[in-house]
Amino acid sequence: MEKKFYVTTPIYYVNAEPHIGHAYTTILADFMKRFYAMLGYDTYFLTGTDEHGDKICEAAKNRNSSPREYADMISGLFRKTWKDMEMANDDFIRTTEERHRSVVQGILQKVYDSGDIYFGAYGGYYCVGCERFFTEKEMVEGMCPDHRKPLSFIEEKNYFFKMSKYQDWLIAHIQENPDFIRPERYKNEVLSMLRSEELTDLCISRPISRLSWGIPLPFDDKYVSYVWFDALINYVSALGYPDGEKFRAYWPVSQHIIAKDIVKQHGIFWPTMLKAAGIEPFRNLNVHGYWKMDESKMSKSIGNVVTPSGLMNKYGNEQLRYFFLREMTFGLDARFSEDLIVDRVNYDLANDLGNLINRTFNMDEKYFAGEIPVFYDEFPEDRPRLLEKLRECGTRYIESAKKFQTSTGLEALWEFIRVLNKYIDEKKPWEAAREIDKRRLSSMIRNLLEAISGVMILLSPVLIHSSRKVIEALGMKGFPADVEDAFTFGLLESGRTIQRTEILFPKIEIEKEGETPVKKVEKTEARSGKKEDKGDDAMEGLVDIKDFALVDIRVAKVLEASKVEGSDKLLELRVDSGLDERTIIAGIAKFYEPDYIRGKKILLVANLKPAVIFKKKSNGMLLAAKEGKDGRPVLIEIDDSIPVGSRLG
Ligand code: MSP
Repeated sequence: MEKKFYVTTPIYYVNAEPHIGHAYTTILADFMKRFYAMLGYDTYFLTGTDEHGDKICEAAKNRNSSPREYADMISGLFRKTWKDMEMANDDFIRTTEERHRSVVQGILQKVYDSGDIYFGAYGGYYCVGCERFFTEKEMVEGMCPDHRKPLSFIEEKNYFFKMSKYQDWLIAHIQENPDFIRPERYKNEVLSMLRSEELTDLCISRPISRLSWGIPLPFDDKYVSYVWFDALINYVSALGYPDGEKFRAYWPVSQHIIAKDIVKQHGIFWPTMLKAAGIEPFRNLNVHGYWKMDESKMSKSIGNVVTPSGLMNKYGNEQLRYFFLREMTFGLDARFSEDLIVDRVNYDLANDLGNLINRTFNMDEKYFAGEIPVFYDEFPEDRPRLLEKLRECGTRYIESAKKFQTSTGLEALWEFIRVLNKYIDEKKPWEAAREIDKRRLSSMIRNLLEAISGVMILLSPVLIHSSRKVIEALGMKGFPADVEDAFTFGLLESGRTIQRTEILFPKIEIEKEGETPVKKVEKTEARSGKKEDKGDDAMEGLVDIKDFALVDIRVAKVLEASKVEGSDKLLELRVDSGLDERTIIAGIAKFYEPDYIRGKKILLVANLKPAVIFKKKSNGMLLAAKEGKDGRPVLIEIDDSIPVGSRLG
């Protein structure tokens, strides 16, 4: 079969701005697209906005806007957010577009002509927030179970879709295709809905007298389409159904991604609508859980919203992608907090992956002048074991990701990354460097570099930029056409010079009451378990003079000083270190005004690893004495007669 892959997100309502729940689904779809592209598939990724219905009308009214103006504005915001977050969607559909309206009308007419739509009276309890009627069984104390608002009883004449006619067909289809709805818990949920009650027919119209913001029924212009009948059709209208080339190519391999909130519409309404319209069912419905903040469901109707753009600016796009894809077990709810993002970045990205790359590149620089060293067959240095482990973990990653289980997949890759860090800790290349025969060391470093290239290829759908940076630094022209090559240890060329760029994934230092940034660094360093720079006989509490000499403390002059926006503790300082001009972020704003510190000479730790503090990169640390119980910082000021750049020691 031809290798094709089509992935969709729900089209989001335009009654509120994008929030992290939307961002997660869209990141997952984006990952899936890039992942299948990496496997050599021809891919298509669709997202968009759902713009009709009561809900949108009401939101527009509340802002003194017309539905169209309002929809344009919020839809534009979704489009911009996805662009800023570098989503690789191939299309963005709006249900107010003509290309969509004509397909909806075509399908309505077709189903009407075949006798599956009829006119009848209907009375029911309706929730504007959910845009649907509720049965008495579904209501909780007369209220909508989601919105906790009283439901209004509405009685009117409407058009109905004979959904009940397809109940048995759908049960059989789900049973014959066990992963039609996945994970299994949602398949079971749909099956139990289908088995426990007789499906009622679906009311698919709204009288124009009550709601005019919708797609008119082609056979009765006094009615517009029910918003769900309209919205679900986006998945085929965007492909140019019925005659479009894209429809022929991608519909047979369609993968929908949704959260558990809209399982009934996608698991029951949509397949029966497709069946009635004579369109083959989608391939799979992939259902994820909910991100929860503070116990309550994080959704726009309840408030409690963190914006995706805000998070991206604060932590970085790749960092956020990694967090989302790693943290949520597919199908289950997950907890959302910024602390968890910081932990994932600091432990997984900075410590495990970033350190692996930085340590290896550092050793290569030190022992091979930055050139890719030769692998010697007579000193394999565990190459077969590493290759086998890469294949095992990489295969687990690929097989899990194919089933949307990104968290399990990434966990498998990190198992390999930890094996590599352990390889360094156990093999101690710096000891091999002292041996006469440097061929062992050469093989070791080459093994590590090859393994890193394999890992970064596999991670390219997550770390969309740094993966490329690393493999290009290693001298490769780009990603291999065949992902199998990632498992070969055969992509690098001996003698090429590694083109290092900046430090990947610096640790995030956060300002937190009761926890100083320094503590955070200690915690993460302890977990990484690196030892190569410490003497074996280090005595507790004492440092060797050699170790002290590693810290480069210099006299520096403050050229510029200003407060960091949004923080009452931090100052941004531009300093002359004698080596360069650089920026440092210092936690002294509560005690020192920028005007006071500007022009002063201070002590700077000049060779500290850069850290990101409050979105800003800090290249070093100024020294202050800690006074009193609360550790109030007192700046160590240096006499003006001592030249900038003088080193302490
Ligand atoms: N317009 C409908 C979908 C029509 S599809 C033909 C809709 N829109 S929505 O704006 O409410 O988006 C719902 C979707 O947003 C969820 O299914 C999920 O993909 C995402 N999420 C919204 N809140 C979420 C969480 N708190 N957690 C995870 N995903 C969430 O329903």
